[in-house]
Amino acid sequence: MRKIFLSIFSFVLAIHALAQTASVAHKVDSVIRLMTLEEKIGQLNQYSGDWAHTGPITPDGDKQNQIRRGQVGSMLNVIGVEHTRDLQQMAMQSRLKIPLLFAQDVIHGFRTTFPIPLAQACSWDMDLIERSERIAATEASASGIHWCFAPMVDIARDARWGRVMEGAGEDPYLGARIATARVKGFQGKGIGHTDAVMSCVKHFAAYGAAIGGRDYNSVDMSLQTLWQYYLPPFKAAVDAGVSSVMNAFNSLNGIPATGNAYLVKDVLKDTWKFRGIVVSDWGSVGGIATHGYAADDKEAALAAIEAGCDIDMESRCYKNNLASLVKEKKLSLQLIDNAVKAVLTKKFELGLFEDPYKFCDEKRENAQQNVAAHKATALQLAERSIVLLKNDLNILPVSKNVKTIAVIGPFVKAVKDNLGFWSMEWPDDSATIVTQWEGIRNKFSSDVNMLYAKGCNINDTDSSGFAEAIAVSSKADIVIMSIGEARDMSGEAKSRSNPVIPGVQEALVKNILATGKPVVVMINAGRPLLFGSIADKAHAILYTWWLGSQAGNAIAAVLTGDYNPSGKITMSFPRNAGQMPIYYNHLNTGHPAPNDSTLDYVSGYIDLPHSPRFPFGYGLSYTSFAYSDIKLSKTTVRPGEKLEVSVVVTNSGNYDGEETVQLYIRDMVASVVRPVKELKGFQKIFLKRGESGEVKFRITIEDLKFYNNQLQYVAEPGDFKLFIGTNSEEVKEASFKLVL
Ligand code: GLC
Repeated sequence: MRKIFLSIFSFVLAIHALAQTASVAHKVDSVIRLMTLEEKIGQLNQYSGDWAHTGPITPDGDKQNQIRRGQVGSMLNVIGVEHTRDLQQMAMQSRLKIPLLFAQDVIHGFRTTFPIPLAQACSWDMDLIERSERIAATEASASGIHWCFAPMVDIARDARWGRVMEGAGEDPYLGARIATARVKGFQGKGIGHTDAVMSCVKHFAAYGAAIGGRDYNSVDMSLQTLWQYYLPPFKAAVDAGVSSVMNAFNSLNGIPATGNAYLVKDVLKDTWKFRGIVVSDWGSVGGIATHGYAADDKEAALAAIEAGCDIDMESRCYKNNLASLVKEKKLSLQLIDNAVKAVLTKKFELGLFEDPYKFCDEKRENAQQNVAAHKATALQLAERSIVLLKNDLNILPVSKNVKTIAVIGPFVKAVKDNLGFWSMEWPDDSATIVTQWEGIRNKFSSDVNMLYAKGCNINDTDSSGFAEAIAVSSKADIVIMSIGEARDMSGEAKSRSNPVIPGVQEALVKNILATGKPVVVMINAGRPLLFGSIADKAHAILYTWWLGSQAGNAIAAVLTGDYNPSGKITMSFPRNAGQMPIYYNHLNTGHPAPNDSTLDYVSGYIDLPHSPRFPFGYGLSYTSFAYSDIKLSKTTVRPGEKLEVSVVVTNSGNYDGEETVQLYIRDMVASVVRPVKELKGFQKIFLKRGESGEVKFRITIEDLKFYNNQLQYVAEPGDFKLFIGTNSEEVKEASFKLVL
């Protein structure tokens, strides 16, 4: 009986959803029928406001009149109920009163700034990442924003590329899991709810593979590599119901992504059945001509709309050329109608036709200004984003009975440099950001003598502050240093050929180490930096990224052990620039290096160890975790069968702590060579000291599939290795066979 009831209930739900979709489609068609060609093209035109300049500005004093004439469909960089309402009122003066969409780059928080995404990824905590986007959406939608240009899911293997900070690192499996969490966080119970926003997965596609790690540079790769490593996070976002996709700036195999029909039409719309909005990146429609794929803006507009790009952000190619292309019969009106339908559908789904001011509620906006619960989540995520890279002699955590602490370095009292490149800039930021000095000072009782010296700036040659820093350090029981790269040294158009610690900061560390005091070095950055000498000599290293509003409190919690660090890096840390790109899921080659010391006839550099400085998945704890051997439910797997895998993890140290148990596989022989490891699962487990816990995974044939040279997604019979461990190098190993 219960089964019958449930099936009837789900049938009714499906009919209701279908009816809703049908009614939106019907409404869209009824509006389209009323629209002139110019009004249709207006919906495909997107301009930036003046809140921020996130691309090259085109002077245009006529934007507001164009809005009044229905020649603008959406805006970005307009913030706040007041400003969005003003512009929406202008749109209501147009003939058909089609409401505007308001978009914003909400990359890691809106009012509450969370750690940069590459730091958040180190938490491996999908629920917490989803919650951070839920908060970002709640805060942004309260300020009139309908659409967030996030998540950025570009797989990145090269730390010279400044935009690694916006993504989840080098692994497609983890990247896909995080993409799903972010889309669900932004869209919540569904767009149309006043605390939900449209999300936008970007940049489609393979932008992170720019040659040389040079932003905007060309990308050239086999389609098998594209599908195997770079597309999975996008597919996960589409499967999670992402509302929009943003084109990438780069060309892929000679065709600009914005005009790349294979990517946008064949893959995204036809194969993946994506039905949301495709928006160009800033000026990337016009960029099609700059790449040399179109002779001029007109040809660029044709290439983009034919490829499936619906909205033209800031290039004006659509506005200036689509009408004439239709009149010259070079462009089918159907393609324009398809793009307009995608835009109008989202406006109906958001409820903006019923109420264009639905997201313009001052009370709701004020209520989201300074929410304690949001700060608490930001603190939780910041604590879990910090990675303990080294802790010789267990000098961390710092005892609360310590007498004197010296806190040294240009980040100690920095404010905005805790935020990162894409953070929102608020006038009252300083009041809402907990600096590292404040956090540490507040964590220790007043009878702990805390000394401070800046020592040097972030990025100049002035070492005049060294003497003071040395003197201060000499009086302390322990020295905590905070160094790194400034918030404008990673991000868009911030590629660095040699991403070392800038300025004279390394020299400062060397001088402080010479005092003979125990030294903890905290590194603030948007990417894996090169810090070999520090890594060799500092007693302890914490990678603190750019942690956002709660930076100081999170750092203080980790320094004192109030939070036992659990972060695990999601990009391999290179030893020097020459080693990049470097990533764990590499192919074996015909001359693999069995270890760092073998140099003869192996694929490596004779002047550098082969391994990364710190491997993918690496991160220490104040405690230690012991792993049992792997238990397999069987050693032969057939289609339809499940392989149950388990290990027992024991907290063998002196602190309660959280471990991220990682599972990798290796397909030993296949029709295309397969990587030496592929992440296929992970689980977080909290264990009190001395406690043990069993961690179980389930492997099916789906986990063993890959794209062969015919781009078929297949699993092939043969031997597999399976690895479980605390990072991609320290693992237990087992073997099994797939039989088809
Ligand atoms: C920028 C970025 C993109 C961002 C857009 C709007 O150039 O590439 O990520 O969403 O422009 O600011």
